[in-house]
Amino acid sequence: MPLRPIKVPDSIKQLAYFDGAEELIDSANEAIEAFMLEDEDVIENFVNCDFHLFDQVLTWILDEHLLTGNRFLEFGSGFGVGSMLASMRGMESVGIEIEPRLVEHSTRVIEELGSDAKIYCGSFIPRGIEGLPDLASDVDHVDGEEGDVYDEIGMEVDDFDLIFAFPWPGEHSFFEAIFEASAAKGALLLTYRGREGMHLLRNE
Ligand SMILES: C[S@@+](CC[C@H](N)C(=O)[O-])C[C@H]1O[C@@H](n2cnc3c(N)ncnc32)[C@H](O)[C@@H]1O
Repeated sequence: MPLRPIKVPDSIKQLAYFDGAEELIDSANEAIEAFMLEDEDVIENFVNCDFHLFDQVLTWILDEHLLTGNRFLEFGSGFGVGSMLASMRGMESVGIEIEPRLVEHSTRVIEELGSDAKIYCGSFIPRGIEGLPDLASDVDHVDGEEGDVYDEIGMEVDDFDLIFAFPWPGEHSFFEAIFEASAAKGALLLTYRGREGMHLLRNE
């Protein structure tokens, strides 16, 4: 299925933050900072996205009625902040993270903040993606293993309506290939691209 880009306007940066989002982001940022200071083994693949911009793009996506349903999935959820912000909007929200320490810390923050987001430890890459070794050969910041975590979640990639990821520079094509091969028709892939901001694609 082809992927169709949907232009995200620059004006999203003017949107007000959702009620409670700034407080959630502040608390999460404190927890991330404490984790970075206390932990001697740096997790090289973890960098967090611009959570404020994520909150604003979520408002825009919802206001524009772009979603086909209410389920959110974060590919590589890090501290789970995107998953918590989606949950705040009433979405059924799931994050998948491969680093057990990040799963442990994000689960703690989620509990402390009373969020309904669920974080699972494993690889977001579902089994059975054709040509995976070739696709994965170009990425340095994604663990290329396939996982059974979807069995634990009780849902597959094609059960989700909005999928979010923060790929490292130059690695977004890998996420798009996984999305195109496994997401439902009509589902959206939102990626954070650093200075280029948010990028949105629909699986058609
Ligand atoms: C750039 S960080 C983004 C974290 C979070 N999404 C955010 O925006 O703040 C990417 C995350 O993906 C995780 N990751 C890498 N490969 C993965 C895989 N195959 N399955 C699940 N998580 C993975 C890394 O451990 C890291 O925490």
